Amino acid sequence: MSKKIAIIGGGNLGSAIAEGLIKSKFCKAADITVTRRNTTPLKALADMGCNIHSDNKKAVKENDVIILAVKPYNFSEILQQIKSGFNPKKHILISVITGVWVKHLEEAVGKKMPLFRAMPNTAIAIQESMTCLCHSGAASDDISYVKSIFDQLGKSVMIDEQLMDAATVLGACGTAFAMRYIRANIQGGIEIGFDANTASLIAAQTVKGAAELLLQTGSHPEKEIDKVTTPKGCTIAGLNEMEHQGFSSSMIKGISASYNKIIK
Ligand SMILES: NC(=O)c1ccc[n+]([C@@H]2O[C@H](COP(=O)([O-])OP(=O)(O)OC[C@H]3O[C@@H](n4cnc5c(N)ncnc54)[C@H](OP(=O)(O)O)[C@@H]3O)[C@@H](O)[C@H]2O)c1
Repeated sequence: MSKKIAIIGGGNLGSAIAEGLIKSKFCKAADITVTRRNTTPLKALADMGCNIHSDNKKAVKENDVIILAVKPYNFSEILQQIKSGFNPKKHILISVITGVWVKHLEEAVGKKMPLFRAMPNTAIAIQESMTCLCHSGAASDDISYVKSIFDQLGKSVMIDEQLMDAATVLGACGTAFAMRYIRANIQGGIEIGFDANTASLIAAQTVKGAAELLLQTGSHPEKEIDKVTTPKGCTIAGLNEMEHQGFSSSMIKGISASYNKIIK
């Protein structure tokens, strides 16, 4: 029998997870419950067949997998409300809350049970997230199951919890870094003659294609660059000028700055 999933906190992320699981046919809409205090914005999920309400205790009682998708400041109060309902033999708890560590989950739950932290990114809304996961006290079946949830919503990888801050920078902040790179391409494209819409299409699809080349073939970026750089040609001239202006260095420094900010 498939597990029943409750998402506590049906905001941007919680709703996107529910929608992605239904669209990917990972589970039936009737096996998904989404809670929030004001349920009006969840009408679309209700129309798809999800159970929608505001009773978190009931959600824990009636489901097997509990995904916590509330803001960090709501975490303690909600855990206090629902923790007595957890059965370690039945439940798996997954938190997507930024900055809440496994030790916080363990303290708040107050009993040994399978606990997971997940760090997805905003592309989860179109089932193209990169999600980094870590766990405490989970058996291999639970680990495979939780990974399969997030594999429906893009790609996922199990990491050591010590790397969760680094995962936030590379995977979640990374969406903003990639957007800025694409925006710069659009600006350059307009300068060399394209209208904004055409430049946006060319820039976004080109970046998507480049990423797919790496994901689908397992190739190294420099190998793919070698295929495009004709000796004395225009690609290498552009690339070298970007490097003279500090392109790779500014990316690495930006990633380090984000990381230093997060670990302070
Ligand atoms: N967005 C992302 O891409 C992303 C990526 C990684 C991690 N995260 C983390 O994911 C979490 C959620 O982010 P978000 O962007 O989805 O925030 P959000 O849109 O504000 O969603 C949080 C939801 O929690 C609900 N909520 C508050 N108190 C509740 C309660 N007592 N019972 C049930 N639901 C309650 C709120 O609805 P009501 O006010 O109607 O109750 C709200 O819809 C955050 O901790 C964030 O750090 C987000």
